[in-house]
This record gives sequence, C-alpha cells and structure tokens, in this order.
Amino acid sequence: AQLNLIARATGKLYFGTATDIPVLNDTAYTAILNDTKQFGQITAENSMKWLLTEPSRGNFTFQAADTIAHLAETQHKLLRGHNCVWHNQLPDWVTAGNFSAPVLASIITTHCSTLVSRYRGHVYVHSWDVVNEPFNEDGTFQSNVFFDTLNISYIPIALHSARSADPLAKLYINEFNIEYAGPKSTGMQNLVKSLKRAGVPIQGIGLQFHMTVGEVPSTAQLAANMAAFTALGVEVAITELDVRMTLPATPALLAQQKADYEAIIAACHITARCVGVTVWDFTDKYSWVPGAFAGLGAACPWDENLEKKPAYEGIVKGF
Ligand code: XIL
Repeated sequence: AQLNLIARATGKLYFGTATDIPVLNDTAYTAILNDTKQFGQITAENSMKWLLTEPSRGNFTFQAADTIAHLAETQHKLLRGHNCVWHNQLPDWVTAGNFSAPVLASIITTHCSTLVSRYRGHVYVHSWDVVNEPFNEDGTFQSNVFFDTLNISYIPIALHSARSADPLAKLYINEFNIEYAGPKSTGMQNLVKSLKRAGVPIQGIGLQFHMTVGEVPSTAQLAANMAAFTALGVEVAITELDVRMTLPATPALLAQQKADYEAIIAACHITARCVGVTVWDFTDKYSWVPGAFAGLGAACPWDENLEKKPAYEGIVKGF
C-alpha cells in the first residue's frame, strides 16, 4: 500500500511531503520522493521563505524556489507554496521600527504578489500558506514586525495581494498547536470568522501537526476540532506532520508512534474537507526535529536508512 494512492482512493487530493534542495542529490532519497504512488504533493521546506526569496528589498532570488516548483511540475505533484508572511526566517532588513505602516504594507504586498505570481497559472499550484503562525499559545496575536507595525491588518493585506497575484490557488493561514480545542484554535476560528465577514479571501486553514509520541489527542477530538474550522466555510489540511519521540527509539515508542499516526490520519479521513496530508519530510535522515528539539527525533514514517517504520503502517491504517 502506497500513501498517495491510498489517500487519493479515499477521496483526498494528495499525500505529500516537505523536501528541499540540500537533499535532492541523495538518489536513494529521491527514488522514494519521486514515486508518485507515495507522494502527490510537495512543500519547499525552506526555499520559498522570505529570507531566501527577497534577501534585500526588491531583490528577488528565485533559483532555489524555482527548483522546487520545477520538481513539482516534472514529477506531477501538487505544490503548496510556503510561505508569504512569517516572523521567522526573515531577512534583517524586515525589522520593526525600520518602516512606517504604509511602507511595510507595500513591502508585504510586493513580497506576496511577486512570490505568488511567479507560479500562478500552473496546474501544480494547489495552495499558498499566505500567513504562517500568527498566534501566541493563548490565542492572542504574536508580536512581530508585521503585527507591531500594522496590527492585524497585515493579514488581509497579505491575503488580498496573494489573491490578486493568483486567482486560483487556495489561500491558507497555517499554524501549530491548533490541532485540538484550546485558546489558540479558538483564536484562529475567530480570525477566520472576522476575515469571512469582511470579505477577505481565505479558503483554508493549515494544521501543522508537529506532535509528540503519546501526547496525540484522540481521533474524535482531532476531528471535532477540524469540524469547528470546516463549519466556518474553509477547508483544512495537515501541512507539516511529524510525531517526535525521546531518543533513542524503542519498540514501545515506535508502536505508540504508529498508533499516533493512525489517530491523526483517521481524523483527516473522516473529515470530508480535510483535503490532504503533508509530512515534514518523510525520513528521519533529513527531519528538522533533532535540530529543533534537543534529545528528540525519529519523528517520520521512514527511518534514517530510508526503511519504513511502524508509523508507515499507522498511516495506511488511518486512511
Ligand atoms: C523549519 C525547517 O524544517 C527547518 O529546516 C528550518 O531551519 C526552520 O524551519 N513551522 C513551519 C516550517 O511553518 O516552516 C518550519 O520549518 C517548521 C515549523
């Protein structure tokens, strides 16, 4: 059983993975990546971020981003653009205090529309994460250069400019720790409501799903939270799935991880408007987790030797 085939057979648009330039010369890796039966969608792990696409003002560099878009095109995969506006991996020139509100608004507009329009009109473009991680854990808005200068108006500014740059891509806001009920998920629901009320283009909410083994809520809880979003008239997608564990991996942890993956996939499976699933790279060989969370890792469905783990079967069972 292969993941994209199963996902599509059960009505999803895709099963996909993050990937990026540094790993594309590993031929054992790309043999799996390029198998469209496994992966029907990709997200650039870093290459479309602001730091890499507009390192100085008005100087757009698309070589790396184009490589990933070209990979989507040649391997017949959908592409999720990631991302237009985020407070991390920003170049130094985008700093609070450097710009007045109208100037920063025009910087956001130029950045989003230049980035999004570059890939418009290609059948492979499924969606854009137009805004990434706008919330604090308590559901208030994150203080950053965008919010501190423009308050929440930066969100409709980004969405409107993405919409005029590409009339067909699904426009998403993407966030972590909104996979289950709580103040952050409620904050996102309130944002969706207010954007919809104001006629701002928003089609989807990305649930990142960076989770921890043994701490994954039940399928029913996850599905209820997805339903709270879809009831507002947006689709949802699982955009950055991984389930990390304390290293070293043990058979017990790997078995729990399999159950955790199954519970997550099952929530998407029973949610008609959960359109697809993306893992944040498919192999422990290239996962961001050990670099970001000290002592944790082994978060992906394939291990460091590119062998399938029990988690892989959990995904299959979840669909
Ligand atoms: C991560 C990448 O995986 C790392 O390589 C990079 O150093 C930092 O960013 N949420 C997101 C992603 O939306 O863009 C992040 O990706 C992981 C958390």
